[in-house]
Amino acid sequence: MYEQVQIHHTVYGGGENLLILGSIQKLPPEIRQLRGQAQCVYLDPPFMTGERFRRKRVYGEKGWRRGSPSLDLPGFEDRFADEKAYLRFLRRMITAGRDLLKPEGVFCLHLDWRMSAQARILCDKIFGKDLFLNEIIWSYESGGRSRKCFPRKHDTILLYARSGEYRFDLTQVPLPRGEHRKNHMARKVDENGRSYSSITAGGKEYRYYDDEPVYPGDVWTDIGFLQQKDPERTGYPTQKPLKLLERLLRPVVQPGDLVADLCCGSGTALAAAERLGCRYAGMDACPESIAVCQGRLKAENLTVIAPTEMDGVPVLAEYDAEAGRLRMGGKAPEGAPYPEKATPEELTEAWETGRAEAGVFTAEKRYARSFRYPALIDSLGISGGKMPDLLVTDAAGKRRAYRWSPDRP
Ligand SMILES: C[S@@+](CC[C@H](N)C(=O)[O-])C[C@H]1O[C@@H](n2cnc3c(N)ncnc32)[C@H](O)[C@@H]1O
Repeated sequence: MYEQVQIHHTVYGGGENLLILGSIQKLPPEIRQLRGQAQCVYLDPPFMTGERFRRKRVYGEKGWRRGSPSLDLPGFEDRFADEKAYLRFLRRMITAGRDLLKPEGVFCLHLDWRMSAQARILCDKIFGKDLFLNEIIWSYESGGRSRKCFPRKHDTILLYARSGEYRFDLTQVPLPRGEHRKNHMARKVDENGRSYSSITAGGKEYRYYDDEPVYPGDVWTDIGFLQQKDPERTGYPTQKPLKLLERLLRPVVQPGDLVADLCCGSGTALAAAERLGCRYAGMDACPESIAVCQGRLKAENLTVIAPTEMDGVPVLAEYDAEAGRLRMGGKAPEGAPYPEKATPEELTEAWETGRAEAGVFTAEKRYARSFRYPALIDSLGISGGKMPDLLVTDAAGKRRAYRWSPDRP
């Protein structure tokens, strides 16, 4: 029979990447020991909007296939007593982020019109004005448009170097010149048949060949906000587009580098790091963030530090001794946010087999729903030997661990 046990660490493969439930108010030792190791730190903290964000999470095969039904879940709170309290929080975030960087590293802070001016002054003090690199304007079209002033349609991303030895290679983010052709220039073709735009200034001709890339400046208008139906969407509030993070990271990191995000939300920076072959360390104070990140990132090389729930909700997987199969089933959790008629199968988002020992779950196999694979494998043949322990994640992101106890029927 399966008995519920508490797990603090879950380890997949080598466990080099880190995902941790923790707060900047009390930096966990696992983050502190990464001091001086990150090549890039990206922080996208709450913007002081005063909002209490919620998130939608699809469940079951139908939900993952069609985008509905979904659960309505709490997200994170963007509320601070006053501006002073917010600035204390922000100072902590920036200082902790800076301390993680190595001398070649680059720091990125993502905010909007509310607090970006104060943040710039703070960063100038913490890094030194001479280490300021950029104020990126990410301009987008989304939401309503005010008529009382010009619509506020951009976020600000501040970039600072950790030291004068910082690494940055703009040629890693080429854009096709076609999109950036300057209309007032003369169009010509050279002796080799290559077309170009040209302008003459001070008696000198400047040529811009169509087949040569251009590089982005500090105003980005070509990356859209995530649309409601974008397959990249996780349901986590304020999720940023992967394309934005890839453009930020590419000039700064190389494969194998460490990327850190201390308020990682849905894990966009971590997913971008993964795509670029980097290692990552992500922290967030919101338990939902950890579940969402896990659904998004590869499980091959990850350590997750987050306690499992111990509220005794029934196991969502059970062993059928007669058939020699471990299958999804058991009893569905009850009460909000779970719909009354939802079955255990529908509410299971991921289940994992492995070994649970001394608070550590060493995972062997992970089965999880995704947009690409909405159906979850529903049973495993167990051919003798030791029964695996289980880690089950439900659609609300609650994780519960179960240990097989052979002495019980
Ligand atoms: C704007 S969201 C990050 C969104 C993320 N960049 C993405 O693309 O999904 C801000 C995050 O900061 C987290 N947060 C708020 N207070 C925190 C704290 N004290 N320590 C760590 N994370 C915190 C929230 O839980 C939230 O996930």
